[in-house]
Amino acid sequence: MSVQKAVKRITAPDITARKGAEPIVSLTAYHAHTAAIADDLVDFLLVGDSLGMVMHGFESTLPVPLDLMIMHGRAVMRGAKRALVVVDMPFGSYEESPAQAFRNAARVIKETECGAVKLEGGTRMAETIHYLSQRGIPVMAHIGLTPQSFNVMGGFKTQGRTRDQWQVLEDDAQAVVDAGAFSLVLEAIAAPLADRITKAVPIPTIGIGASAQCDGQILVMEDMLGLSPRVPKFVKEFGNVGAAIEGAIKSYAEEVRARRFPAVEHTYDVKD
Ligand code: KIV
Repeated sequence: MSVQKAVKRITAPDITARKGAEPIVSLTAYHAHTAAIADDLVDFLLVGDSLGMVMHGFESTLPVPLDLMIMHGRAVMRGAKRALVVVDMPFGSYEESPAQAFRNAARVIKETECGAVKLEGGTRMAETIHYLSQRGIPVMAHIGLTPQSFNVMGGFKTQGRTRDQWQVLEDDAQAVVDAGAFSLVLEAIAAPLADRITKAVPIPTIGIGASAQCDGQILVMEDMLGLSPRVPKFVKEFGNVGAAIEGAIKSYAEEVRARRFPAVEHTYDVKD
C-alpha cells in the first residue's frame, strides 16, 4: 500500500498572515506543467488575464472571456498542489454590480476550485469586494496601473509620479482594506508611494514595478523567463528560455533536413 502525504495548500488567510514577515513570492501561471514546476517555489500563483496577451496574442487583456480564465485556472490547479491559486476576473465579468461579480466569481471558484479571485479597482470596487468577501470569496485587490482601464488611463503609465496623485491611490488602498480584501497588488506605482501604502495597510502588498519594500512581489512568468516579445522596463529576466527554444528548434530542423533523425521502433517508452 502506498502512503501519500497530503499536501496542505496555502490559503488566502495564510497570505494575509504574512504581512510584514518573510517576503511573499508569486508568479503568474497559465498552464499545468509550469504551475507544477513553480508550485514548491512560490507562495501563490496568479492565473492573470495577462494570458490574453502572453498566451493568445491579443493586444490587451480586454478581449479575454471568463470561460478562458476558467479553462486556464483548471489547468493551473491540476499542476499546483501546494501554492494558493488566484484567478483574475476578466474585464466585463464583475464591474456591472456586486451581484454580477458574485455570480461570475462563484463560477470561477466552483469550476476551478481555486482559493481566491483578483479584480482591478480601488474605491470604485469597494462595495463589490465587500459583497464577495462576505459571501465566501477571498478577493485580492489590484490598484495603480490597472491594465483593464488602459483606455481611460491613456496607456500603461506609472501611477503616483507626482505627489498630487498620491491621495487618490492612498484612498483606494484604504477602501479595499475596509472592504475586506485579503491582499493588494500595487502595479507600476512610484516607489515612495508604494512604500507609504505598504506601511499604512494591514494586509500584504504585492508589488509589480512598485517597490522592493512591498510585502511580496509578482512577475509574469514568461517575462522573467525571457519568453515574452515585449517586456516592461522594470522586469529582470532570470532566464533566456526564448533563445533556448529557438536553439532547440534550429537543431531539430537541421537533424530532420540531414536525415539524422533516429529510427523509430515499433513501440517506444515514455521517459519518466
Ligand atoms: O494579469 C496579470 O498577470 C496581473 C499581474 C501582472 C499582477 O494582473
